[in-house]
Amino acid sequence: MGKEYLIAGNWKMFKTVAESREFVQALAKEFTAFPGLEVAVFPPFTALAATHGLDPKIKIGAQNMFFEEKGAFTGEISPLMLRETADCVLIGHSERREIFAEHDEDVNKKLKAALQFNLPPVLCIGETLPEREAGKTLAKVRLQLEKALQGVAAADMEKITVAYEPIWAIGTGRNATPGQAQEVHHFIRQMLQEMAPGKKIKILYGGSVKPENSLELLVQEDISGVLVGGASLKVDQFSAIIQNALKLLRA
Ligand code: 13P
Repeated sequence: MGKEYLIAGNWKMFKTVAESREFVQALAKEFTAFPGLEVAVFPPFTALAATHGLDPKIKIGAQNMFFEEKGAFTGEISPLMLRETADCVLIGHSERREIFAEHDEDVNKKLKAALQFNLPPVLCIGETLPEREAGKTLAKVRLQLEKALQGVAAADMEKITVAYEPIWAIGTGRNATPGQAQEVHHFIRQMLQEMAPGKKIKILYGGSVKPENSLELLVQEDISGVLVGGASLKVDQFSAIIQNALKLLRA
C-alpha cells in the first residue's frame, strides 16, 4: 500500500526575500521528484511572491491568514490575496494561538475561508505540557479538532492536512517519541475517519523534528509527513529529512 509523504518547513519569522529565494533554489538541487513525495516551505508573507513557482517540486505556503475576503482590517492578509502567491496555508499554529490569542472560533473561520478560496489548509493542533502530564492529550486534540472542523463539509475534508504539534516539543529539542506521536496520530486518524469515511487525509507530526529523528517518526503507520521548524531553515538539514522520506518511499 503506497504511503505518501509531505515534508513541510515552517520558517516562522526568519529569512528575507533574497534568503528565501536562495534557499528554494538550493533545496531544489538536493532532491528529484518522486511519486508520493510532496515538499512545501512556508516563508514569511514578504517572500511568498518571490518564491512561488520558483521550482515545481517545492510548494509555497503561507503561515497565517485572516478569514475575511477584503475590508478595513489593517495589517491582515486575505485568502483571496494569498491564492495568488501560495499553494496552501497554515491555520492555528500554536504560536498564533498562544502569542496572538487566536481562539478555536478564529481557527474554524480561517479554515472554512481557506477552503472556500481553494487554498488547502494545514490545521495545527496539539497539547501543552501540563495537559500531557495530566493525561488530557487526547481530550485536547479531540476538542481542537472538533471545534476547528465544525461545519466543514465531508467532501472538503480531503483538502485538509492536519499537523499534530505537541507544544512542549516545539523549539525545545524534545520531540515526542515515535510511540507517543503514533498514538495521537492514530487517534486523529480514527476521528477523521468517523467524520469523513474513506477520505485520505494527511497527518503531519511537528515538534523538534531533525534529520536524526525523522526516519523513526516517518516510518510510523499514521504519520504522513512532518512539519519542521528550526531544522527547515538549513538546506542540508531539511534535505536530509526529505532524503529519509525518499528512502521509505523507495523501499
Ligand atoms: P521546531 O521544529 O523548531 O520544534 O518547530 C516546530 C514547529 O512549530 C513547526 O510548525
